[in-house]
Amino acid sequence: MQQNTLKRVIGMSFFAGLITALVIPAVAAAPDAASSKSKNPLQGMTPVEASKGLELPAGSDDATVTQGRYLVGLLGCASCHTDGALIGKPDPAKTLAGSSIGIAYSNPMVNNYPGAVYPPNLTPDNETGLGEWSLDEIVTLLRSGKTRHGRQTMAIMPWTSYAQLSESDARAIASYLKSVDPVKNAVPKQILPGNPAKTPLVHVGLYRSR
Ligand code: HEC
Repeated sequence: MQQNTLKRVIGMSFFAGLITALVIPAVAAAPDAASSKSKNPLQGMTPVEASKGLELPAGSDDATVTQGRYLVGLLGCASCHTDGALIGKPDPAKTLAGSSIGIAYSNPMVNNYPGAVYPPNLTPDNETGLGEWSLDEIVTLLRSGKTRHGRQTMAIMPWTSYAQLSESDARAIASYLKSVDPVKNAVPKQILPGNPAKTPLVHVGLYRSR
């Protein structure tokens, strides 16, 4: 495997360019809604670095798995699905095992407490990861955003881009994810807008001026 190439590519994941590089500390002292017109939208936020040099778990020697590992590196999955990676401090023991840093999905200038989602555990742990997902179910998730329970995944999970993966590339990714060592790590449940998060959040997305 081209280890060096892979590491470089992960560092340059397209996602790094999308993240607004801001993080709200857990349950930041949010100004009240009445003063929102004059509030500094960056109040209580700290800039974050993009993660570099995330090394993916090995997986088996199988050619399909090796191709899957290459694609997972290229598509930046670990830059979201690894604890700490969203704020530039990836925990190497939890690579691909889910994030306890949330991603806000509603506009923080509208809701003092935005809704947040936590990138789930992609290792094949039965309770907290993809252990019970079949290869076909992972392929369907990647190409349509539909989970094995039929729920439409939010587009923060970039399935709208991954929908263009060929069936064989999606299957290679699924084979790789199923071949890595399982890591037990439950991520926090999704938070609905208006409820304070107990963890730091990063913000992605673009908000258009009127
Ligand atoms: C920008 C961050 C981001 C990137 C990059 C990303 N994901 Fe996700 N992913 C998420 C989030 C957030 C969710 C949960 C979305 C939801 O529940 O609506 C998710 C959900 C998933 C799920 C569903 C798991 C479950 O238990 O429901 C799978 C499988 C998955 N991602 C695989 C991948 C793979 C494979 C890649 C790379 C090809 C990838 N993701 C890249 C953020 C990301």
